Amino acid sequence: MVQLALPKNSRIGKGKHYAAPAGAKRVKTFKIYRYDPEGTENPRWDTYDVDVDACGPMLLDVLIHIKNDIDPTLTFRRSCREGVCGSCAMNIGGRNTLACTHGWAEVPGKEIQIAPLPSQAVVKDLVPDLTLFYAQYASIEPWLHTETPEPQKEWRQSPEDRSKLDGLYECILCACCSTSCPSYWWNGEKYLGPATLLHAYRWLIDSRDEATGDRLDALEDPFKLYRCHTIMNCAQVCPKGLNPAKAIAEIKKMMVERVA
Ligand code: SF4
Ligand code: SF4
Ligand code: FES
Repeated sequence: MVQLALPKNSRIGKGKHYAAPAGAKRVKTFKIYRYDPEGTENPRWDTYDVDVDACGPMLLDVLIHIKNDIDPTLTFRRSCREGVCGSCAMNIGGRNTLACTHGWAEVPGKEIQIAPLPSQAVVKDLVPDLTLFYAQYASIEPWLHTETPEPQKEWRQSPEDRSKLDGLYECILCACCSTSCPSYWWNGEKYLGPATLLHAYRWLIDSRDEATGDRLDALEDPFKLYRCHTIMNCAQVCPKGLNPAKAIAEIKKMMVERVA
């Protein structure tokens, strides 16, 4: 069974408190969302007073320190530790970001609250269930569609056409944008959300792709594309500095232009 994360929900129970070790000179408090599908105290906020001199500078360093030295039951995802894999995305101090590239000193206040990405079901603690998110990404068929016979070497592309993919190909599918989008919170089952739509646009403007019409047909739906109301949360939180809202606007423009 999974739990739906509701960060900052006052109904969430107060959990355990782990005091800082004696002699710690610089202490910072981390309040972390806990949910264990096999536990009884669900969900709750556990509080950890951490000797930050014992940790590296990033939030992920703090989480690893807590897991290794304070509470081995704490569960979170991570892999690359350098902002490439997208797996450590979470809600830190009320903002979706990557724990491995966000310094704990950058978060204001004496206490830092850490929760899973909002609006998704929770598998355990800081691990959201991204099954739907990945299924939506797969639904746009994120690969080259061609009809002309395959060339003997590679599919060629001019430098100018290649540059149209800049600002799109860098997406690491961390889901920070989609899970910060109010339209996605309300219509996540039907609205594809900013990350998937950014990728949809990446294939729509790829000069080598020959399925533009079919791709636009597949998005021509009252929910899949048109639930974006230009609220712009997506562009504000993207840890890679991308602008999904702009990509969505470009798709809408392509829709209009093809009927004009
Ligand atoms: S601009 Fe669109 S996709 Fe981005 S947060 Fe707003 S509604 Fe969501
Ligand atoms: S657009 Fe940015 S925030 Fe959204 S999934 Fe890609 S990298 Fe993450
Ligand atoms: S651990 Fe890979 S992006 Fe953070």
